[in-house]
Amino acid sequence: MTDSLLAPDRVPDPCVLVIFGASGDLTRRKLVPAVWHLQQQGRLPENFALVGVARSPMSSDGFRAHMGQALEEFVGASGEQVEGFLSHLEYLSGDPGDSAFYQRLNVRLQQIDDERGTAGNRCFYCSVPPQVYLTIIEQLGVAGLHREGQGEPGWVRIIVEKPFGQDLDSAGELNRAIHAVFCEPQIFRIDHYLGKETVQNILVFRLANSMFEPLWNRRYVDHVQITAAEAVGVEHRAGYYDGSGALRDMIQNHLLQVMCVVAMEPPSAFDAESVRLEKLKVLKAVRPISIGEVDRFAVRGQYTAGAYDGGPVPGYLDEEEVPAGSRTETFAAVEFTLDNWRWQGVPFYVRTGKRLARRASAITMRFKQPPHLIFSGGRDVRPSTLTIRIQPDEGISLSFSGKMPGPDVNLGSVEMDFSYQDAFGGRSPEAYETLLLDCLLGDGTLFADSRWIEKSWELLMPVLEAWNATSATSVPEYAAGTWGPRQADLLFDRDWRTWACP
Ligand code: BG6
Repeated sequence: MTDSLLAPDRVPDPCVLVIFGASGDLTRRKLVPAVWHLQQQGRLPENFALVGVARSPMSSDGFRAHMGQALEEFVGASGEQVEGFLSHLEYLSGDPGDSAFYQRLNVRLQQIDDERGTAGNRCFYCSVPPQVYLTIIEQLGVAGLHREGQGEPGWVRIIVEKPFGQDLDSAGELNRAIHAVFCEPQIFRIDHYLGKETVQNILVFRLANSMFEPLWNRRYVDHVQITAAEAVGVEHRAGYYDGSGALRDMIQNHLLQVMCVVAMEPPSAFDAESVRLEKLKVLKAVRPISIGEVDRFAVRGQYTAGAYDGGPVPGYLDEEEVPAGSRTETFAAVEFTLDNWRWQGVPFYVRTGKRLARRASAITMRFKQPPHLIFSGGRDVRPSTLTIRIQPDEGISLSFSGKMPGPDVNLGSVEMDFSYQDAFGGRSPEAYETLLLDCLLGDGTLFADSRWIEKSWELLMPVLEAWNATSATSVPEYAAGTWGPRQADLLFDRDWRTWACP
């Protein structure tokens, strides 16, 4: 049983959600199921419409049938309720580069406002690659669809998916191109890690309990590890992944965001401006790594053939569509140093990889050993550790020393565990549900702003440059199904520090 302090339900204004890239996988797997769950929970306004946009010719009936199948497949929902939900959906086919299409879209959106009372409020979701969303944004601007205050009250928002740039220059260009049409409060850059319940809970854990925050600093913490380990390989995404690699794919966005949530100062309020400012301050405190130091602070790796789940799996170079001789890293680990009062001398080790031993994303905070141990044999005792399990088996555990029963004082490591499922039960909302709802409510707290994005790229540029250099040493290998290249162990410069296997 848990006591809860429920916030009053937040329901957005009447509005239309326009999804560009509606024939893609994200729409059927994540977005439409997320909208469905929101509607089922009464979190959507009565006056709501979803317009799918893509190049493929399809009727609205065809789109509804397709999304009905998706709901059956991914949510297990069917029947009358689904029919009712699908009546809010329609489809427009069009070429994102064709300005005539945006005239049609404009006319249709105005008709929807009249028919469904959506009050001129629009949210455009770009579920397309960046080169396409730049065209979409430009064309929305040309058609005047970015302007607010067309209806009553008539807000306009735009959601863009990652990747947000390939490097500092391209991220800056993207920001400038978007700012040429939309202003920052209208822009919602999705990072689905920020929508995860367990990531949102980090701040609650720290700041809604008075007992943890006093320990959250260099006096008590030896180091912090942030791991996002995936068991899957590159799957069918080599076309994108090979030009990206683990550092860009996971660290520049998801894991640096998580590091900021762990390391930030308590904001004075839980609102977008205060939270974003504190997160930016964390990145500003990160000590830059120079190109010459990259080998000391960053390690990469690429998986070779190995075993997973009892069967053989191919190496990265043998995966579908991976170019011969690719040097793309499928594993990356970086040590970050934060130059501020709270974290001086406390390294943050961030690591991610595909085809690792198992799927596990977690934050591990290792506490310092007591300054003086009065128990004989106590030196072997493991340091107290706080583990925040982001996924799977979402929860938090605290391991600490206890006296083992018996006539002698022998210490053993014991654990207290909180499991989301056991404590709260039920279904946790998917990240996309939370983020879509927040965007429709105009709440940017869980989204990245342009300053944060550019700063994160700036910090990683020396690593990318060193790894891309023609003179760079070969990419270390690791067998699929292991915890990564052994070189990753060399990041630790103290023998009591080792990677946790969450
Ligand atoms: C995506 C990356 O952003 O996050 C993928 O592009 C990765 O490569 C995925 O697999 C991981 O997300 P999650 O929620 O499964 O940890």
